[in-house]
Amino acid sequence: MAAQSDADSAERPPGDVAPCSPRNVHVFVCTTSGRHHCGEQGSERILQRLRDLVEERRLGNVRTTRMGCNQQHHQGPIVVVYPEGVWYGRLRLQDVDAIVTEHLVGGRPVERLRITPDGPWATTALT
Ligand code: FES
Repeated sequence: MAAQSDADSAERPPGDVAPCSPRNVHVFVCTTSGRHHCGEQGSERILQRLRDLVEERRLGNVRTTRMGCNQQHHQGPIVVVYPEGVWYGRLRLQDVDAIVTEHLVGGRPVERLRITPDGPWATTALT
Protein backbone atom coordinates (compact mmCIF):
# COMPACT_ATOMS: atom_id res chain seq x y z
CA MET A 1 0.00 0.00 0.00
CA ALA A 2 2.79 2.41 0.87
CA ALA A 3 4.47 1.64 -2.43
CA GLN A 4 1.24 2.46 -4.25
CA SER A 5 0.97 5.77 -2.37
CA ASP A 6 4.52 6.62 -3.32
CA ALA A 7 3.74 5.80 -6.93
CA ASP A 8 0.57 7.89 -6.79
CA SER A 9 2.40 10.89 -5.38
CA ALA A 10 5.07 10.61 -8.06
CA GLU A 11 2.37 10.96 -10.72
CA ARG A 12 0.60 13.88 -9.03
CA PRO A 13 1.39 17.40 -10.21
CA PRO A 14 3.04 19.74 -7.68
CA GLY A 15 0.52 21.16 -5.19
CA ASP A 16 -1.95 18.31 -5.68
CA VAL A 17 -2.36 16.88 -2.17
CA ALA A 18 -3.18 13.22 -1.61
CA PRO A 19 -6.47 12.50 0.21
CA CYS A 20 -6.08 11.95 3.95
CA SER A 21 -6.01 8.42 5.25
CA PRO A 22 -9.06 7.48 7.31
CA ARG A 23 -8.55 8.06 11.03
CA ASN A 24 -8.15 5.07 13.28
CA VAL A 25 -11.25 4.27 15.30
CA HIS A 26 -11.59 1.89 18.23
CA VAL A 27 -15.05 0.63 19.12
CA PHE A 28 -15.66 -1.02 22.48
CA VAL A 29 -18.78 -3.13 22.95
CA CYS A 30 -19.83 -4.20 26.43
CA THR A 31 -20.63 -7.91 26.32
CA THR A 32 -20.73 -8.58 30.04
CA SER A 33 -23.22 -11.31 30.85
CA GLY A 34 -25.54 -11.53 33.80
CA ARG A 35 -28.99 -10.45 34.74
CA HIS A 36 -29.77 -6.92 33.46
CA HIS A 37 -26.29 -6.64 31.93
CA CYS A 38 -25.46 -5.71 28.34
CA GLY A 39 -24.93 -9.32 27.29
CA GLU A 40 -28.53 -10.06 28.16
CA GLN A 41 -29.69 -7.03 26.20
CA GLY A 42 -28.40 -8.19 22.83
CA SER A 43 -24.84 -6.89 22.83
CA GLU A 44 -23.37 -10.07 21.33
CA ARG A 45 -25.54 -9.58 18.24
CA ILE A 46 -24.58 -5.91 18.15
CA LEU A 47 -20.87 -6.81 18.25
CA GLN A 48 -21.33 -9.40 15.50
CA ARG A 49 -23.27 -6.97 13.30
CA LEU A 50 -20.56 -4.36 13.85
CA ARG A 51 -17.83 -6.82 12.89
CA ASP A 52 -19.79 -7.98 9.84
CA LEU A 53 -20.21 -4.40 8.59
CA VAL A 54 -16.56 -3.54 9.24
CA GLU A 55 -15.53 -6.58 7.20
CA GLU A 56 -18.08 -5.99 4.42
CA ARG A 57 -17.00 -2.38 4.03
CA ARG A 58 -13.33 -3.23 4.45
CA LEU A 59 -12.84 -0.65 7.17
CA GLY A 60 -9.24 -1.46 7.99
CA ASN A 61 -9.05 1.60 10.22
CA VAL A 62 -11.70 0.28 12.64
CA ARG A 63 -10.84 -2.01 15.54
CA THR A 64 -13.57 -3.69 17.60
CA THR A 65 -13.03 -4.96 21.13
CA ARG A 66 -15.18 -6.50 23.83
CA MET A 67 -15.45 -4.39 26.95
CA GLY A 68 -16.30 -5.17 30.54
CA CYS A 69 -19.00 -3.58 32.62
CA ASN A 70 -18.93 0.18 33.15
CA GLN A 71 -21.94 0.26 35.48
CA GLN A 72 -24.09 1.72 32.73
CA HIS A 73 -26.13 -1.34 31.77
CA HIS A 74 -29.29 0.44 32.93
CA GLN A 75 -28.69 2.38 29.70
CA GLY A 76 -27.44 -0.67 27.78
CA PRO A 77 -26.39 -2.16 25.56
CA ILE A 78 -23.35 0.11 25.70
CA VAL A 79 -20.87 0.95 22.93
CA VAL A 80 -18.04 3.49 23.25
CA VAL A 81 -16.14 4.91 20.27
CA TYR A 82 -12.62 6.35 20.52
CA PRO A 83 -10.80 8.63 19.92
CA GLU A 84 -13.87 10.81 20.49
CA GLY A 85 -15.05 9.00 23.61
CA VAL A 86 -18.63 8.93 22.37
CA TRP A 87 -20.96 6.72 24.42
CA TYR A 88 -23.92 5.02 22.79
CA GLY A 89 -26.66 3.26 24.72
CA ARG A 90 -30.06 1.62 24.55
CA LEU A 91 -28.93 0.24 21.22
CA ARG A 92 -30.98 -1.99 18.98
CA LEU A 93 -29.45 -4.17 16.32
CA GLN A 94 -30.51 -1.84 13.50
CA ASP A 95 -28.71 1.08 15.18
CA VAL A 96 -25.34 -0.46 14.34
CA ASP A 97 -25.72 0.41 10.66
CA ALA A 98 -26.21 4.09 11.51
CA ILE A 99 -23.17 4.13 13.80
CA VAL A 100 -21.00 2.57 11.08
CA THR A 101 -22.27 4.79 8.26
CA GLU A 102 -22.59 8.10 10.07
CA HIS A 103 -19.87 7.91 12.72
CA LEU A 104 -17.20 5.39 11.76
CA VAL A 105 -17.27 6.27 8.05
CA GLY A 106 -18.81 9.75 8.07
CA GLY A 107 -17.04 11.04 11.17
CA ARG A 108 -20.22 12.43 12.78
CA PRO A 109 -21.56 10.82 15.98
CA VAL A 110 -25.18 9.68 15.83
CA GLU A 111 -26.68 12.16 18.28
CA ARG A 112 -29.99 10.35 18.76
CA LEU A 113 -28.17 7.26 20.07
CA ARG A 114 -25.76 9.00 22.45
CA ILE A 115 -25.96 8.68 26.21
CA THR A 116 -24.15 10.33 29.07
CA PRO A 117 -22.64 7.91 31.57
CA ASP A 118 -24.04 8.67 34.98
CA GLY A 119 -22.92 8.04 38.53
CA PRO A 120 -19.53 8.87 40.01
CA TRP A 121 -16.93 8.68 37.26
CA ALA A 122 -14.70 6.42 39.35
CA THR A 123 -17.36 3.69 39.23
CA THR A 124 -17.35 3.67 35.45
CA ALA A 125 -13.65 2.84 35.09
CA LEU A 126 -12.88 0.15 32.54
CA THR A 127 -12.61 -3.28 34.12
S1 FES B 1 -22.89 -4.85 31.66
FE1 FES B 1 -22.54 -3.31 30.15
S2 FES B 1 -22.28 -1.50 31.35
FE2 FES B 1 -22.61 -3.05 32.82
